[in-house]
Amino acid sequence: MAGTISDVIARRVWDSRGHPTVEVEIVTDGGATGRAIAPAGASRGTREAVDLRDGGTALSGLDVQAALDNVRRRIAPALKGMDATEQAEVDAAILALDGSVLKDSLGGNAVVAASLAVLHAGAAAKAVPLWRHCADLSGAAPSLPLPEIQIFGGGAHAGRRVDIQDFMVMVPGAATFDEAMAATAEIYRAAGSLMHRKGRLVGVADEGGWWPVFDHNEEALETLVRAIEDAGETPGERVVISLDVAASEFGAKGRYRLALEDRELGRDEMIGLLGRWIADYPIASIEDPLAEDDPEGMRDFTAEFGARVQIIGDDYLVTKADLVTAAAADGACNAVLIKVNQVGTVSEALDCLKAARAAGYGTIVSARSGETEDVSISHMAVGFGAGQLKVGSFARSERMAKWNECLRIAEVLGQEAFVAGKPLAATGWADRKQGAA
Ligand code: PGA
Ligand code: ZN
Repeated sequence: MAGTISDVIARRVWDSRGHPTVEVEIVTDGGATGRAIAPAGASRGTREAVDLRDGGTALSGLDVQAALDNVRRRIAPALKGMDATEQAEVDAAILALDGSVLKDSLGGNAVVAASLAVLHAGAAAKAVPLWRHCADLSGAAPSLPLPEIQIFGGGAHAGRRVDIQDFMVMVPGAATFDEAMAATAEIYRAAGSLMHRKGRLVGVADEGGWWPVFDHNEEALETLVRAIEDAGETPGERVVISLDVAASEFGAKGRYRLALEDRELGRDEMIGLLGRWIADYPIASIEDPLAEDDPEGMRDFTAEFGARVQIIGDDYLVTKADLVTAAAADGACNAVLIKVNQVGTVSEALDCLKAARAAGYGTIVSARSGETEDVSISHMAVGFGAGQLKVGSFARSERMAKWNECLRIAEVLGQEAFVAGKPLAATGWADRKQGAA
């Protein structure tokens, strides 16, 4: 059979932070190949899959020789002879081999690289584009996602210079994916010029957003609104703001410590602060507004603001189908971030996506802060019909490779496949058309 796996190769490559990571290459009897690289997070949830790192002093303990060894000695023999087009069967074999909850037996990095490489090999064996193979697996109609793009980095991606992790824009009013790219390029450039004029341009953070030299967290929002205006847009019209608070990074047990402002907020004060921002700025989406150990906060926040902003669980839901189903029953969040390496395999990510769809949740396929030239997630966002894609900023080639891949797919799919503002329709952004603060 064309898709029968004949060889599994593992090699050490390097990610966008210069850290070692795992690449897996799958070869099939028919000569098809598939290759994928494990990404790596910095603001990780405690319930997400754990990468295997060697420890010790060399490479700051981050080497991945044990994970590579697991691909060669354990995963390869199990996969040889299996059909690469049967993603669910292959992933089930990998999971059976691992046998742990957090994938710390084989290593999340070994598992995700192997699973994604199989996805690529399956598409190659069928001689179809990766997004088409993803659509076959998901049963969804392929669509071009609404991009969510970082303008200022922060949190764990910028030396904790500011507390909030991502200050992003979305262009739900764009008619085409290409138009969303161009509008974002103007805003990114305007934000850089603004920082330059303020004497605060010092470089970019991990995901390519401008380094956040601000005196308080809200100054980033004020500056973002100015940048949107400088780019010739009316904030809240074609362009809206999206935040990833990544609150687990500075909050625990219902207390939230904003280091930049030297103050600690209780749960209700934190919700109040975010509520003021939602009232004062054209914010249409907020990720992890409360910490992963704060279901009460997440419930309260969703009850109060769920009808006007998208509320995304990232660390809170770690791409797990059962957590999404439970959160929906609990009234927490209304959308979920889908990161394959957070859960482990492509099939588990797909399960999460299906659970989200069943719960009426929005879905956002997402990169990690440590990325590579691997563009698998662009194809998954399209083929899973996810509706939204988050890959970081509008700079650095590990980010741009993913946006550019979407542009190529757009040529094949046609611009009418762009979802535009549909994923945010429930937030009423189009009716509000707020002005700037
Ligand atoms: P991470 O951050 O990849 O560092 O976990 C991305 C995010 O929080 O969305
Ligand atoms: Zn996040």
